Amino acid sequence: MRAFVCTGYGGSQQLKLQELEKPTPKSDEILVRVKAVSVNSWDWDIIKGAPIIRMVGPFRPPYKVLGADISGVVEAVGANVHDIGVGEEVFGDLSDSRWGGMAEYATGKAEHFTIKPKKLSFEDACCLPQAGLLGFQGIRTFGEVKKGDKILINGAGGGAGMFAIQTAKLDGAEVWAVDRADKFDAMRKFGADHMFDYKATNYTKLDQQFDVIIDAVAHRSIKSYRRALAVDGRFVMMGGKLPTILGTFLASRKNDSNTQKIKILMWSVDKDDLDSLAKLVIEDKIKVHIHKIFDFEHTPEAVQMVGDQDALGKVIIRVS
Ligand SMILES: NC(=O)c1ccc[n+]([C@@H]2O[C@H](COP(=O)([O-])OP(=O)(O)OC[C@H]3O[C@@H](n4cnc5c(N)ncnc54)[C@H](OP(=O)(O)O)[C@@H]3O)[C@@H](O)[C@H]2O)c1
Repeated sequence: MRAFVCTGYGGSQQLKLQELEKPTPKSDEILVRVKAVSVNSWDWDIIKGAPIIRMVGPFRPPYKVLGADISGVVEAVGANVHDIGVGEEVFGDLSDSRWGGMAEYATGKAEHFTIKPKKLSFEDACCLPQAGLLGFQGIRTFGEVKKGDKILINGAGGGAGMFAIQTAKLDGAEVWAVDRADKFDAMRKFGADHMFDYKATNYTKLDQQFDVIIDAVAHRSIKSYRRALAVDGRFVMMGGKLPTILGTFLASRKNDSNTQKIKILMWSVDKDDLDSLAKLVIEDKIKVHIHKIFDFEHTPEAVQMVGDQDALGKVIIRVS
């Protein structure tokens, strides 16, 4: 099969089209003929060699083939897989199965896949496992957003942010969205009520306290987040810099003695959440904003586009 192999750290020029052997599913896995794969900031972190990635792969990327969020058709199933059959259309996540989505075939744990409804396109489906669930779970599971809540989303113009804004609006919240100014139009389209440019505004110093803060790129002190939260507010760290991740972890251990809650979003590929999200997309209650679809041969350009932060919406690779 053809696959883009990640030959070293650096950038998209490290992705080389090679012939690899078609993988064989383990007993709890499925083999998927990949139809579409979405590019996430995580793919870029890996190929760039972000500090957190080098902790697991000091000299070379920990995964041979990138791409975690895929949709496709099941070609084979492992001996212990009973709820997904050959020929079914599925979508799911490979990040706990050695990655490998930027290839014609990939194997992944069956428990991290669900059946793709016919009405959901392969392109939309491959945006849901990571970016979709991060936004969805950030608002519902971790933020516990209620009607009328004032919520702030930092990094709201990114892949997960666009799902977070839409889920929050669906749940009746008033949304403050923070990202680069040239993403304002996109964020308005997702449903944001108020917008701020992160290059000009420190949101923790706004004259406003929030019931929920979801931060995709957290890099400030816990003290400043507490200042921006309502007395019983919730801060949810989706992603961020290592010192802030550590600070959030330590603060989250003291939640019992504080009315404000500090949480780390522990994203999980929950089939029920995936099915709920797919239903919302089919019902047109949540829209998947795709910036560009690349042919498989142009995979390095797709990855580079995410690295260059040029996309206003998801970047997709159509594999077959
Ligand atoms: N918690 C988990 O289990 C889990 C799992 C997977 C991924 N993640 C993390 O989740 C986060 C969101 O992922 P994603 O795919 O949505 O990323 P993304 O598409 O790169 O979105 C991040 C957004 O934040 C913006 N941004 C950059 N610096 C900012 C700042 N200082 N203030 C405000 N906004 C800023 C970016 O804009 P620019 O274009 O200007 O950079 C971009 O629009 C990432 O940090 C990722 O590592 C978490």
